[in-house]
Amino acid sequence: MIPQSFIQDLLARADIADVVGRYVQLKKAGQNLLGLCPFHGEKTPSFTVSPSKQFFHCFGCGAHGSAIGFLMEHRGLGYVEAIRDLAQMVGMQVPEEPSGAAEAHSKTRALTEMLAQAADFYRKQLKVSEAAVQYLKARGLTGQTAARFGLGYSPDAWQPLRGAFEDYDDPRLGEAGLVISDEGKRYDRFRGRIMFPIRNPRGQVIGFGARTLGAGEPKYLNSPETPVFRKGQELYGLHEARDAIRQSGRAIVVEGYMDVIQLSQAGFGEAVAALGTAITGAHVSALLRVTDHVVFAFDGDAAGRKAARRALEATLPVIADTKRASFLLLPEGEDPDSLIKAQGSHAFETELAHALPLSQFFIRALSGGPLATAEDRAALVAAAKPLLLSMAPGAMRSQLLRELAAAARMPAEDIEALFGLRRSRPGRPAPLARRTPHMEVDDLKRRVLQQLLVHPQLAHEFGDAVSEEHAGREEPVDREIVEVSEAARSQTPAATGALSHGALMELLTDSEHAIEYRALAAQEMELETDVETARQIVEEAFAKLRLRRLERLRAERLDAYQQDLSAEALEAYRTADQAYLRARAAASDSANR
Ligand code: UTP
Ligand code: MN
Repeated sequence: MIPQSFIQDLLARADIADVVGRYVQLKKAGQNLLGLCPFHGEKTPSFTVSPSKQFFHCFGCGAHGSAIGFLMEHRGLGYVEAIRDLAQMVGMQVPEEPSGAAEAHSKTRALTEMLAQAADFYRKQLKVSEAAVQYLKARGLTGQTAARFGLGYSPDAWQPLRGAFEDYDDPRLGEAGLVISDEGKRYDRFRGRIMFPIRNPRGQVIGFGARTLGAGEPKYLNSPETPVFRKGQELYGLHEARDAIRQSGRAIVVEGYMDVIQLSQAGFGEAVAALGTAITGAHVSALLRVTDHVVFAFDGDAAGRKAARRALEATLPVIADTKRASFLLLPEGEDPDSLIKAQGSHAFETELAHALPLSQFFIRALSGGPLATAEDRAALVAAAKPLLLSMAPGAMRSQLLRELAAAARMPAEDIEALFGLRRSRPGRPAPLARRTPHMEVDDLKRRVLQQLLVHPQLAHEFGDAVSEEHAGREEPVDREIVEVSEAARSQTPAATGALSHGALMELLTDSEHAIEYRALAAQEMELETDVETARQIVEEAFAKLRLRRLERLRAERLDAYQQDLSAEALEAYRTADQAYLRARAAASDSANR
């Protein structure tokens, strides 16, 4: 591992405009630089580089990142290679890898080798297990299909893997998720199950899904998370599906292992599945890097509808205008596997033809019924708000907003105003007074989050206010503000002053909220708020948040006083009232400044 401090120094030294400028012709456009996006074909430039934020963003395809990210994407480099490359450009010496990192590498290699060896063993066991072969035949799979997916069988005994490994006590078998140690006893995790090896895009086995032959709980057992297996990032079947995805121009996302396999056998080689978890933004991004069109095909039951809704939420922040997503809900009680088995591949083809485009599914999923009354339509608008706000600005968001407006029978402008969205040209933020009047608490917090992300130095200036308003609260936006603020403040104050947005995002790459941060930053690319205005926005937001808090406290105290009419309660109410009035005066001061 290269120390984070070195990476931060490097990003402070390198200028993204120089780095990108080596590969892309850039022209000045206001505070930013503009060029033709190297990541998708375009004739009018929408690829924007911000020297002040040390960040690039393409409004056409959504490509987005720091100088390191640019080198990774553009030159196909790994993270470490990109850092070496960048260091060389600015004449810095990458510190020698401490031995810990070399050890971690060889550990990873040992684990994937063990998993490959286990997969081999399971495959051979399938050939000699009549029951397992019968099971797969009964489910309609050919030997060829089983071979394509490397299916296997784990014998029904306590320690079958003794037959595959010389040293069954090797602790790494436990780390690979193959063997379980329990009060001194060791035994195989997978026993008496059909084995589905899970491969990473490079084709290495990184884990297994395993199904019981008949009844028995759980129906599927999966490898645990290990150093080589991250469920939120890996998709089952992606390695096998890669060519078919390119050829067909789409990826089909389904719920189960058997769905992927049955579809592949029926001629839809482009199917993949999440691994018993919800679809994440990382999953969708990974697919959108290989194809322009993702089709979600989920079971026609409550679980399937929920999965589709989650997929929608994961897709919105990462979809770009040049990409498409469609949604397919199968008839009640069917999954792709059962549908194809019962009615053949043309039945699935017919379903595909009726998949709903994202824009229609969006309204359908959020309304959950006919929009007969004004209340139904207002509820639809409220439900759509966080989803639309999670999107980067662009044609897709505008289109969804229009669909929403039509469904809600409201002018699109009213919805934009209600959501605090305003189209403004780059470099010219809408006047502050018009942007802030009736914003609710959540909007205020989101605005703070956005400005802290883009201007990390504000994290130091407003550190106390952040702790006061957000620490220890449960809402996601509070936790996000604290996370961003802490990441920025993990640097010394002097270093944070120089901390660019790009460098901050590198500190936050492993955050589960990274995608939302990206969306908020992308939106800011368009608004281009300067640091002075940003400071004012944050200041004003904190004053208002404080005011709301004191207002609530005053109301509670008043309530308490009215309950018991004691002198203490009256005194407590008076104190709260004065604090509230002082804060109100301060807030109107800062708004008028
Ligand atoms: P389903 O219950 O829909 O099963 O789970 P399925 O894919 O139709 O399985 P078959 O056709 O009966 O063989 C969908 C997916 O959810 C995960 C698995 O990834 C499965 O493929 N799952 C399900 C588990 O991880 N554990 C379970 O116990 C059940
Ligand atoms: Mn099934």
